[in-house]
Amino acid sequence: MPPGPGPAPGQKRRHSTGRVCIPMEVRPEIRADERAIDEVHRLAFAREDEAKLVAALRVGDTYLPELSLVALRGGEVVGHVLVTLVDLSPRGGAPALPVLALAPLAVRPDSQGRGVGGALVETALRRAAVRAEPLVVVLGDRGYYSRFGFVPASTLGIAAPFAVADDALQVRRLPAFRSAAAGVIRYPPEFSGLSGACG
Ligand SMILES: CC(C)(COP(=O)(O)OP(=O)(O)OC[C@H]1O[C@@H](n2cnc3c(N)ncnc32)[C@H](O)[C@@H]1OP(=O)(O)O)[C@@H](O)C(=O)NCCC(=O)NCCS
Repeated sequence: MPPGPGPAPGQKRRHSTGRVCIPMEVRPEIRADERAIDEVHRLAFAREDEAKLVAALRVGDTYLPELSLVALRGGEVVGHVLVTLVDLSPRGGAPALPVLALAPLAVRPDSQGRGVGGALVETALRRAAVRAEPLVVVLGDRGYYSRFGFVPASTLGIAAPFAVADDALQVRRLPAFRSAAAGVIRYPPEFSGLSGACG
């Protein structure tokens, strides 16, 4: 039997399980999202650090408005990812190279496990792919980020400026990547308030 017509754009789709699936939208944040973004991070991390980091980065020099993305379901912000500029300082004193850092990423606890985090990371990587920076770094769980093509930073000779667990610093090459630029990631001062850094 031919499939019936799908729901009209924006309309809720009902799964065979009976669970209603509300369509998700991912777009750059706007001013009106700020309070909800703050709440997403406070709820997801159960602390203030990441919400404060986002607020500080938003008004800093490394902020890229098109790479602060919110995920919405039913008009509500349920997730947020921020990608900002950091420096890669090559060993041997060559000039620092701008690269991208994905941090933080958070999804409201009541919306986790439904693809929101994945949609945010994939959209951020698609948007990052048209830029001139060669790679994105993330500090986070290898089991989560490997699915998006992140590999341990050590495989490219890239290190964190502080001690991190093996494989926690990961990199994802972008189309502008030409050759390995080994060195140390230099995070801007906004990150210094973050205890136990995590993307
Ligand atoms: C991590 C986080 C952003 C993932 O968002 P999400 O919307 O739940 O993720 P998705 O639905 O896209 O993906 C779910 C998958 O990721 C896995 N996953 C979620 N968190 C993970 C983690 N910390 N480590 C490894 N895998 C993880 C799930 O097991 C699931 O795997 P499956 O697809 O094999 O079943 C979300 O759980 C969150 O906000 N956590 C608290 C804040 C945080 O830890 N941020 C990231 C710091 S590294």
